[in-house]
Amino acid sequence: AADAMEEVEIEIPALEGRDILVRIKATATNPVDFKILTGWGNPEAKVENSPEIVGFDGAGIVEAVGPDATKFKKGDRVYYSGVLNKRGTFSELAVVDERLVGTPPKKLSWAEASSVPLTALTAYEGIVEQLQLTPPTTDEERKANSEKVFLVTPGAGGVGSFVIQMAKHVFGFTVVATASRPETTKYCKEKGADHVISHYEKLK
Ligand SMILES: NC(=O)c1ccc[n+]([C@@H]2O[C@H](COP(=O)([O-])OP(=O)(O)OC[C@H]3O[C@@H](n4cnc5c(N)ncnc54)[C@H](OP(=O)(O)O)[C@@H]3O)[C@@H](O)[C@H]2O)c1
Repeated sequence: AADAMEEVEIEIPALEGRDILVRIKATATNPVDFKILTGWGNPEAKVENSPEIVGFDGAGIVEAVGPDATKFKKGDRVYYSGVLNKRGTFSELAVVDERLVGTPPKKLSWAEASSVPLTALTAYEGIVEQLQLTPPTTDEERKANSEKVFLVTPGAGGVGSFVIQMAKHVFGFTVVATASRPETTKYCKEKGADHVISHYEKLK
């Protein structure tokens, strides 16, 4: 809720190493922001970076670069997902290590771009790092994947919508997603789900 936050002014931090300073155009909210705001469920928890500035996702324009930064220059469009030990993106200017930063596709608005990094990263981590799946490289491997069913629950959420796209378009699985409403069912299909079932009904 808005009353959980207050507006503050702080010094612009000095840039070190490969840090870059980004003028934030849009940010997104994620479950982790709420967890940080509430001390990970423990309101007594010590806040390391007082005042805590939440916001993992950011999209904006590079304002300045640190002494060892080489990937970006002032004026570049960027988007990124940050880290726990740096202040977040609910701010006009935010600092991030350039190695965490990418260039958003031109067709995305600032708001759209800011909604991508953490959800897409989480989908990638789940499929590639946790499930340890590698994309098919031959027609045979792709055909074998198409005979396997990949369940995405829930399919229309931030993470789920990227999982559907990766599971279908990169890996070629037969994708079953869960959704309960007409609009979320349609959205899952648009993202590539072959079948959509409700998470509120019995699975037959
Ligand atoms: N967002 C991130 O970047 C991120 C990062 C790391 C971990 N996570 C974790 O990943 C999970 C999903 O996060 P998210 O941000 O993608 O969520 P989200 O966008 O808030 O997910 C919303 C979806 O949840 C579905 N849903 C509601 N009730 C459900 C139920 N009872 N069973 C199954 N689905 C239900 C809704 O589908 P219908 O409207 O169709 O019912 C809705 O489309 C969370 O556990 C979160 O903590 C998220």
